[in-house]
Amino acid sequence: MREIGTVGIVGTGTMGTGIATNLAQHGIAVRLFDARPEQARAAVAQAQAFYAKAVERGRLTAQAAETAATRLAVVGSLAELAPCDLVIEAIFEDFTLKAQLFEELSRLLPGDTLIATNTSCLRVSALAQHVAKPERFLGLHYFSPAQINPIVEVVKGEATSPETMAAALAFCRATGKKPITCKDSYGFAINRFFCPYTNEACRLLDEGLATTAEVDVVASEAVGAAAGPFRVQNLIKPRINLHAIRNLAPLGPFYAPAKTLIEVGEADRSFEIGEVGEIPAERRALICDRLRMGVFVAVLQELDEEVATPADIDLGAREALRFSKPPCALMDELGKAEVARIIRPALTRYGLPEPASLARVGRLSR
Ligand SMILES: NC(=O)c1ccc[n+]([C@@H]2O[C@H](COP(=O)([O-])OP(=O)(O)OC[C@H]3O[C@@H](n4cnc5c(N)ncnc54)[C@H](O)[C@@H]3O)[C@@H](O)[C@H]2O)c1
Repeated sequence: MREIGTVGIVGTGTMGTGIATNLAQHGIAVRLFDARPEQARAAVAQAQAFYAKAVERGRLTAQAAETAATRLAVVGSLAELAPCDLVIEAIFEDFTLKAQLFEELSRLLPGDTLIATNTSCLRVSALAQHVAKPERFLGLHYFSPAQINPIVEVVKGEATSPETMAAALAFCRATGKKPITCKDSYGFAINRFFCPYTNEACRLLDEGLATTAEVDVVASEAVGAAAGPFRVQNLIKPRINLHAIRNLAPLGPFYAPAKTLIEVGEADRSFEIGEVGEIPAERRALICDRLRMGVFVAVLQELDEEVATPADIDLGAREALRFSKPPCALMDELGKAEVARIIRPALTRYGLPEPASLARVGRLSR
């Protein structure tokens, strides 16, 4: 299996910077390239500032911070990525731009260099068509902030070889991450249910059934969310979440964006979250059911499609989303009859068949 010691990052914005920061801290030599050279230099400065803060907090020794910083090198051309064992693409989410980049990298890199995309919404298998020797191509979907968030979805495209997957999984573990193996499916393993969860929160507003503040409070009871869906959407930006949800449209009307999300997202606004008083028990139960419904329908469907294992889905929920009640374990705890009751309104409303995985509730996480 190929040892990965040197990694190239193309596109050093939010994600590229975070990934580079993490890798250099874990002993990887990193070459950074951005179409705007000042952005690649800014990435190195941000990484140094991150290490300095880690030293201040006692999480890193001064020596380790200094060594990590020396592993980061800005390069002025894609050709200078030729010595890399792996090149990770983190440029704008635009199919044509990414396809052009992969064609250029295919000309410049040796045929056995692994190539990964950090795309959130594009099909890995479609991008692979622009890579020479696509068996060395895969998705490495880091979560923001990639310096800290431990989860990486390792996405197997149709052409990705088992050797490429094995090397990528070992690489993620060696760089302090917890990888989740998943299929090249809309939303991969985590956004597949995170999006309908936030969308269901917005539908409660559409229907005048709850306020943002009430939903955020009940989310902690529903899924053990450390922060409610509206607070989290304000952090990632409703505009970005709307884009992610629209990417799930081919999965059917259950995934169609809520009116309120379209309004707030298209206006590039944040959700207003007011004060919350006593929430009547009946409303509390309704909010709890609806949030769980958003999560459960999507998770049962992705289990049917074998997008990821129950253990990996729960790992992602716990570590990337900070749900202390991850979906498969929660469904097992609630039992099949209760899960069936919670999801039934969605099956009726959106004309969905009963997910086959419902039969396994009670022993999903075993
Ligand atoms: N931001 C997130 O939370 C997040 C999470 C997971 C995945 N992603 C995905 O990661 C990718 C990058 O997202 P981001 O938020 O870091 O974007 P960003 O806009 O912060 O950074 C993109 C960088 O790519 C550079 N760039 C654009 N075209 C280029 C090219 N052809 N060659 C070299 N550099 C180029 C830009 O100058 C910019 O610095 C996207 O595919 C996005 O969907 C983002």
